[in-house]
Amino acid sequence: MSTASMTEESHERATPTPPAPVTGPARRPLSLWVENLSVSFDGFKALDDVTLLLDSGELRCLIGPNGAGKTTLMDCITGKTRPTSGSVFLESRLNELTRLSEVEIAGLGIGRKFQRPTVFQEHTVFENCELALKGPKGVFRTLFARLDAAQRRRIAEILELIGLADHARRPAGLLAHGQKQWLEIGMLLAQDPKVLLIDEPVAGMTHAEAERTAELLKSLAGQRTIVVVEHDMEFVRSIARNVTVLHEGRVLAEGPMAQVQKDPRVIEVYLGQ
Ligand SMILES: Nc1ncnc2c1ncn2[C@@H]1O[C@H](COP(=O)(O)OP(=O)(O)OP(=O)(O)O)[C@@H](O)[C@H]1O
Ligand SMILES: [Mg+2]
Repeated sequence: MSTASMTEESHERATPTPPAPVTGPARRPLSLWVENLSVSFDGFKALDDVTLLLDSGELRCLIGPNGAGKTTLMDCITGKTRPTSGSVFLESRLNELTRLSEVEIAGLGIGRKFQRPTVFQEHTVFENCELALKGPKGVFRTLFARLDAAQRRRIAEILELIGLADHARRPAGLLAHGQKQWLEIGMLLAQDPKVLLIDEPVAGMTHAEAERTAELLKSLAGQRTIVVVEHDMEFVRSIARNVTVLHEGRVLAEGPMAQVQKDPRVIEVYLGQ
């Protein structure tokens, strides 16, 4: 037996068993998992022993009051913040992310969307996707390197998916707020990530835009693992199968939305507000 297959086997055995099955008996392989993660900022524990297991293709919502540690958790997964202790794994115990740089983590297939859209305002919608597809080589060089047919098709597919096919030639700066958010999701998709981390996607959106965003994220799940942080509970209910509730840096509750929203502890610290 080769060393590689032995390592894979030991990974299989070592994969942690969740405290309670959140997706029923037939679990998919794990995609991303966080084990006993803690972060301190000058002695203040922003995350305190957090364990989170995400199945491949799962769409998980992360909810909880302000300051609960939701963004900090995303920062630790993407390498922006170094945890004080604990681990983050992608697909295998061989990929331990807390030792890697932000660029290396992104390269392994973790895409992050921040709350404020960060599109290139003067460039067209199409060019924004093109820049994302080709990676960080500098705007000028990238736009002068020709796209091949497969890349053009990929961008066309993405624009269709995010509902901006009719806006391909418009400067991104002229889009409505919701459309900019979709463009940024499209730009993430151009990099073909395995895991998408999305922080407060519907903040500032109209009701119709939020509904469209829910449809988009649901259509992406299955092929990719998606973690969404959001305070808009109507939105969370419309997309979430399973939710994790963070409170004061700890996992307070986890499970199907219908169950979690009846949990008296969750109502007390968050939903009852
Ligand atoms: N770089 C930092 N230095 C010091 N404290 C920080 C830092 N980043 C976050 N914190 C603190 O850690 C706690 C968790 O913050 P975090 O931003 O993760 O919360 P959140 O759950 O995303 O909240 P919100 O819903 O308001 O976005 C807060 O008390 C915050 O002030
Ligand atoms: Mg936050």
